[in-house]
Amino acid sequence: MYTDKIKKILFTEEEIKKRVAELGKQITEDYRDRDLVLVCLLKGAAWFCMDLNRAIDLPCQIDFMVVSSYGNGTETSGSVKVRLDVSCDLRGKDVLLIDDIVDSGVTLGAISTMLKEHSPASVKTIALCDKADRRINGFKCDYVGFVIPDEFIVGYGLDFAQDYRNLPFIGVLKSSAYERK
Ligand code: IMP
Ligand code: MG
Repeated sequence: MYTDKIKKILFTEEEIKKRVAELGKQITEDYRDRDLVLVCLLKGAAWFCMDLNRAIDLPCQIDFMVVSSYGNGTETSGSVKVRLDVSCDLRGKDVLLIDDIVDSGVTLGAISTMLKEHSPASVKTIALCDKADRRINGFKCDYVGFVIPDEFIVGYGLDFAQDYRNLPFIGVLKSSAYERK
């Protein structure tokens, strides 16, 4: 069975739902009377972004980017490539950049810097999970769902070599599952 590859569940579907609702409420308060655009990093943040979008009680636009830094491994390659850029005009907008997880900080650090070149009113970042101990560049995420230990996690959009995104919970992958890939 697919879920046999999971060592332990970190956050259940219900816990994720509750936390996303809290974040949506906080963002609704913080962005009232602003001009909010969510920029979602595909593919991993799509699941989180769609739920967060519906938890925000404000008019809000959405855009997508595809970036990559990981290849098929479990560690960052250190450089971020933009494979699909934003298509909205971000001038004067309040951009909230969304990723599934912040680890080394390389991805959100690099992409938030790039987005500032579009002359937005502001750029902030949100990640559902944060491996705070792994940061190599001092990057600080503005909104975080869960601070997690240094373990490779999958589910709710998070993948290992493109698999496991469809798990409704977030769990730690057994090391045997990635040794076999
Ligand atoms: P960073 O650039 O090192 O901060 O890594 C951010 C990106 O790495 C995320 O967008 C994820 O795609 C990926 N990533 C980091 N840790 C994990 C993990 O535990 N599981 C799945 N993907 C991860
Ligand atoms: Mg990613």
